Amino acid sequence: MYINENFLKLPGSYLFAEISKRESAYRQAHPDKKVISLGIGDVTRPLAPAVTEAMHRAIEEMASEATMRGYAPYAGYDFLIDAIVKNDFLAHDIQFSANEIFVSDGSKSDTGNIGDMLSESNRIAVTDPVYPVYVDTNAMSGRAGNYDNEAALWNKIVYLPATSENGFVPDLPSKAVDVVYLCYPNNPTGTTLTKEQLKVWVDYALKNKVLIMFDAAYEAFITEENVPHSIYEIEGAKKLSIEFRSFSKTAGFTGVRCGYTVIPNELEGFDKIGNNHSLNKLWYRRQSTKFNGTAYIVQRGAEAVFSTEGKKQIKETITYYLENAQIIKNSLEATGMQVYGGVNAPYIWAKTPAGLSSWEFFDKLLNEAQVVATPGAGFGKSGEGYIRFTAFGKRTDTLEAVERIKRLKL
Ligand code: MLT
Repeated sequence: MYINENFLKLPGSYLFAEISKRESAYRQAHPDKKVISLGIGDVTRPLAPAVTEAMHRAIEEMASEATMRGYAPYAGYDFLIDAIVKNDFLAHDIQFSANEIFVSDGSKSDTGNIGDMLSESNRIAVTDPVYPVYVDTNAMSGRAGNYDNEAALWNKIVYLPATSENGFVPDLPSKAVDVVYLCYPNNPTGTTLTKEQLKVWVDYALKNKVLIMFDAAYEAFITEENVPHSIYEIEGAKKLSIEFRSFSKTAGFTGVRCGYTVIPNELEGFDKIGNNHSLNKLWYRRQSTKFNGTAYIVQRGAEAVFSTEGKKQIKETITYYLENAQIIKNSLEATGMQVYGGVNAPYIWAKTPAGLSSWEFFDKLLNEAQVVATPGAGFGKSGEGYIRFTAFGKRTDTLEAVERIKRLKL
């Protein structure tokens, strides 16, 4: 038996596994200290009552012979797909048919698995810093090449730096690429692109036949006008982009697991001799082979996110997290740190003080303030010198964490 040796090229552990290891070690060594985690973007507010009520009703259905359900449809139940098409797209003048939506167990799986459809020869571009799943999964499939530990770069990946120097607006790739991953509002920087800035990407992709993987997991946090909620708000985007949406951050589903992926019918890829093929059909083939559908109970819960009550309750939760973001942003600014994001996103991205590296500042926060954050360098080379805080904590914890940080000598 031979293994996929690409796995051996992966450096260290998955970022959040590494952070959790360090946090646990600290907790074990200091059982008397209260550690506050503002590291991984995991939610803390309970599910909306509209969601849990719908799930309770679904459980009752599953308990009766007359109404129980077995395998769910591979791409999702019509009731949820219809609610998605109507609320997330039609309400914004974007038309989709039901077969263009694929419900799943979340965007981490979808953004990780989507590469199954892509040839190993594709040249991949990512913004830097970046959600590590895009890079690590391409590395597992051999598309990233080899990792240079010293440089903290994969030799086949094209990195597009997004730093304070360019206002977190990455330049278009200067080399030819086939696939670009964009996440807006951005994880980890919490920054956004305007419609005009996103249009530059769509026009570039149309001209160069590049596929855009657009991760819109944080769109529910957009508060400003002129920030696109979907790439399909830009004309022509259906020809070249796949969009990922998640209920995790929108509706607190990190522990429930539900998301969906949009693959427009008109989106095509090419084989070696230049024939066109529908990515929608390939993805259906992939999902029906490797995935047995999202649980009925979960999909009923997700459907309730779009009910009148559900929308109201979810908005309250998002407002709560955005207030946390404001608290973190203001408090860090009060210490003199340079702070970004947090207005249209649940992440606050800050420059580390006193020239500390990301991991040095991570250690300082953990050891001296018992606060866990995420070191920017974990998201890529251009994240070095930054640190990320999540706004998904409990209010009391968030307030206590920022008070502790303010007391640090920075
Ligand atoms: C994060 O902290 O970046 C996210 O929680 C990761 C994820 O959604 O998988």
